Amino acid sequence: MGRGKQGQSISTIDKERRIAAALTVSMKIANAKFGGKGYRFWYFDANCGSGYNHQVNVPGSPVVFWDVKQHCLTAMDPVAHFCDRDPVAMQQLRNRLAQHSETAGSVLFNCDNEDAIKAFAENINRSENRKYAVGAALFDPNGYYYRSAGGIGVPVQALQWFPVAFPRIDLILNLNMRTFRLQRGAGHAVRPPTEVLRSLNRTHWLVARAGGQSRHLLAVGRNMAVRDHKALGFYDWESPEGQCILDVDEWKEPATDLFGAVA
Ligand SMILES: C[S@@+](CC[C@H](N)C(=O)[O-])C[C@H]1O[C@@H](n2cnc3c(N)ncnc32)[C@H](O)[C@@H]1O
Repeated sequence: MGRGKQGQSISTIDKERRIAAALTVSMKIANAKFGGKGYRFWYFDANCGSGYNHQVNVPGSPVVFWDVKQHCLTAMDPVAHFCDRDPVAMQQLRNRLAQHSETAGSVLFNCDNEDAIKAFAENINRSENRKYAVGAALFDPNGYYYRSAGGIGVPVQALQWFPVAFPRIDLILNLNMRTFRLQRGAGHAVRPPTEVLRSLNRTHWLVARAGGQSRHLLAVGRNMAVRDHKALGFYDWESPEGQCILDVDEWKEPATDLFGAVA
């Protein structure tokens, strides 16, 4: 498989901050409810990258995961799975995680995320009743909710069965709304975000704008009710603010950033 695009720009700072916020919500709730009771926190990062965004000097989602874990998952052990199709990115991540004994226990997949998520599911099934398995899965595809003919993107096939089979694993999506608008304009079969979220078998969604000029939609889906986390920029999808975030017409074409770059 070829090299993927990690999609780095100044807005990556805000994206990683929002991913950290989303993980904070999931971990704090799991820790409070299930901590100390023998549960583990199952985690899958479907588009993990190398662990570091060198062009902008910002940690990537695997490092963010382990950092948030230090603070928020004090009474549960995580079982972290990271996947990327890019062999160079995965080797860099392997080297990075090997530096600490805790992160070195991560499970790494250098393959298509459609295959990796099956292996993640098997790992859970081997040790727990899937219905009660707690954790989170992150999908950060450097695009919208879409899979190209060449297999780049989110595991759209697996996302038809995974959320049903594992009702207590939170789903975290980071979707590029600029890409959505461009693809929709070009006639691609992309569903608006509300339809995507409704298809994923989660009753409660928190939504936020993310990524510099608010080009990304970050959504956290759960089956147990969770209040708004306004301080973190997350709103219930049915609130007026949440509805506004999910309204595709609210995603105006962004201006270029301070340095003239469009990520
Ligand atoms: C936006 S980057 C991920 C950045 C990372 N999550 C972070 O926060 O630093 C998207 C990644 O998805 C990977 N990717 C794209 N399609 C994939 C697939 N089908 N299976 C596994 N990885 C994929 C690319 O190689 C790329 O590294």
